[in-house]
Amino acid sequence: MSETILILDFGSQYTQLIARRLRELNVYCEIHPFNKIPRDLSAVKGVILSGSPFSVRDEESPVPELSGIRKKMPLLGVCYGAQFLAQNDGGDVLPSKIREYGRANLGFIDGNSKLMHGISLNSQVWMSHGDTILNIPENYEIISSTESVKVAGFKIRGEETYGIQFHPEVYHSTEGSKLLKNYVVDICGCSQDWTPDSFVETSVDSLRKKLANDKVVLGLSGGVDSSVAAILLHKAIGKNLYCIFVDNGLLRKNEFAEVLHSYKDLGLNVKGVDASDRFLDALKGVGEPEKKRKVIGNTFIDVFDREAHLIEGVKWLAQGTIYPDVIESVSVKGPSATIKSHHNVGGLPDFMKLKIVEPLNTLFKDEVRRIGRSMNMPGFILNRHPFPGPGLGIRILGELTPEKVRVLQEVDHIFIQGLRDEDLYDKVWQSLAVLLPVSSVGVMGDERTYENVVALRAVGSTDGMTADWSHLPYEFLAKISNKIINQVKGVNRVVYDISSKPPSTIEWE
Ligand code: XMP
Repeated sequence: MSETILILDFGSQYTQLIARRLRELNVYCEIHPFNKIPRDLSAVKGVILSGSPFSVRDEESPVPELSGIRKKMPLLGVCYGAQFLAQNDGGDVLPSKIREYGRANLGFIDGNSKLMHGISLNSQVWMSHGDTILNIPENYEIISSTESVKVAGFKIRGEETYGIQFHPEVYHSTEGSKLLKNYVVDICGCSQDWTPDSFVETSVDSLRKKLANDKVVLGLSGGVDSSVAAILLHKAIGKNLYCIFVDNGLLRKNEFAEVLHSYKDLGLNVKGVDASDRFLDALKGVGEPEKKRKVIGNTFIDVFDREAHLIEGVKWLAQGTIYPDVIESVSVKGPSATIKSHHNVGGLPDFMKLKIVEPLNTLFKDEVRRIGRSMNMPGFILNRHPFPGPGLGIRILGELTPEKVRVLQEVDHIFIQGLRDEDLYDKVWQSLAVLLPVSSVGVMGDERTYENVVALRAVGSTDGMTADWSHLPYEFLAKISNKIINQVKGVNRVVYDISSKPPSTIEWE
């Protein structure tokens, strides 16, 4: 097992950011809830205690059991983590009298401290806490201060235990990555060898051992995660990986044929299953969005299950689940409580009786892309915009008909192709067209028309949790709008969605 840094989560909104920063340093790390410390710590080179929305003075504040860790390996408390250590050892943590939120500068730095080594005087850091460490226990020494926060950082004498009240993981802490590097490399001794190439090599090895000659089935969606999972598994077990790509009739125009073709080009053993009629039949008369999602999800399971049963002796079901889907979040009250994200397939039924293999379940989305690149996968697949499992089904508001699907596919195609042609596609996170359930009046020649309205939407985001509408050039929007109205029969009005998330969502349903 590779060297690991263990991050104990106390519910901070920034915990995942700590993990991402360490991964950027090519150091492997895992997030675990503060009260579920893994038993086997043999690969753990050091531990980080995250921040928290709780105050250490709260009755119900989270209290970790650190006896198996402290003085046995390096420990770094960040914000709540630091305050917990200080209070637990007899220091005073009290509500801060002054504002300790936002940017601050480290006016004092102990140059001999391994943690602060190379950090410049007055370096900018990000503070975000309501409490502050007022008095430190006797065996603590201060290693950094800001003008208003005397104990910005401390070390405990006689042990490799450190605490900082600022957040090195946040972008505004300009030398935060350097500090984290000091910790994981110089203090914990990590060798920074967790690279995409090494991930591929070790995963392929361990998948080979785990799966041996077993057959594995995987549902491909055309998206990045399932595609990268497929290539990784293919490298490990070749033709024993059986991929199934279902056409639910709600994909983008030409998507089924094109993507199927590129999967075959990549050497995958893939079967394309055209089940569009089944999906459209099942959706007849269904207008409510959550109901549509259920119908699409259940139909997918039926189709996939039938196909999987055709593979004789299949033992495993592979899924492209990624790390954010499996991190067990510490439930907290207040604003940092995790907002649940959507899952594509949302788990397959038990009756399939297959063992599950999820080769990407330790990776963040951007890391999945990096792994894909290191396996030389084409940009066409790796850089695609996210596309929801229910596809155009939730972009045709209300009830679906084959005609509505056709209209939306045409509109969407003009929009997406336009973005590609003008080099805008890679500049937005996600783009989509929505067929609205309203008709509006128009004129075509001398005729009055009464036809469909479509909305175009493009957003910038890093994870889909928050998003800003993209400021696409007016000239581009004008061109696309003209093209749609001229070429797509049944559409006489195009609008552009200028709402951000929150409060709006990315999809309209
Ligand atoms: P919202 O609309 O909630 O979308 O802002 C956030 C991200 O999730 C995608 N999304 C879905 N993905 N099944 C999926 O697999 C769904 O039912 C679903 N609904 C939304 C959306 O496209 C965006 O990337």
